[in-house]
Amino acid sequence: MRVVILGSGRGSNAEAILLAKAAGKLGRAEVVQIFADKPDAGILALGPRFGVPATFLDAAPFKTKLDGSAEQHYIAAISSCQPDLIVLAGFMRVIKPGFLTAFAGKIINLHPSLLPSFPGLDGIGQAWRRGVKIAGCTVHYVTQEVDGGPIIDQAAVHVEAEDTPDSFADKIHAAEHALLPAVIARLSEKKA
Ligand code: GAR
Repeated sequence: MRVVILGSGRGSNAEAILLAKAAGKLGRAEVVQIFADKPDAGILALGPRFGVPATFLDAAPFKTKLDGSAEQHYIAAISSCQPDLIVLAGFMRVIKPGFLTAFAGKIINLHPSLLPSFPGLDGIGQAWRRGVKIAGCTVHYVTQEVDGGPIIDQAAVHVEAEDTPDSFADKIHAAEHALLPAVIARLSEKKA
């Protein structure tokens, strides 16, 4: 199963996927390409470290969506990788119908909350400010509804009295780093 990862940030989830692969825990999945929409995104540094092509792909002029000629640029570049699965690992853009149609049923997203609670930006901050006692993360198929596609799997964390915003975020990220590679491995085994 050929996997393309899209990200915008530090890439800790992409790193978790690549570490799982190195440990033989990614099933039949293989990461063939990383793309980032920011030239200075930490995720791009994973390429040389893990021997995977990692490339900046400009999505200007839009800041929060993948649209217009940038969407076409992304579709062409990703299509040339012949992906079986596209993983949005901290890719902070709204995906539009053209991209969804080009890769129908092949796009999954990681979100740092127990959806359908706290969709959109800053899922971790939203959950913390709401004072939930059980939080977590979700991997779901991407549809036109932002953070609203079919849920594949979730992981929960308990919020303890001694937690701080930082320790809470760390718990969510640790849960993400376990959940996302496990989901990819399972999807790859189903593909056969
Ligand atoms: C992750 O917490 C992911 O759930 C979140 O961005 C972070 C990326 O971290 N994604 C979203 O909020 C999408 N709505 P990373 O760059 O270290 O993997």
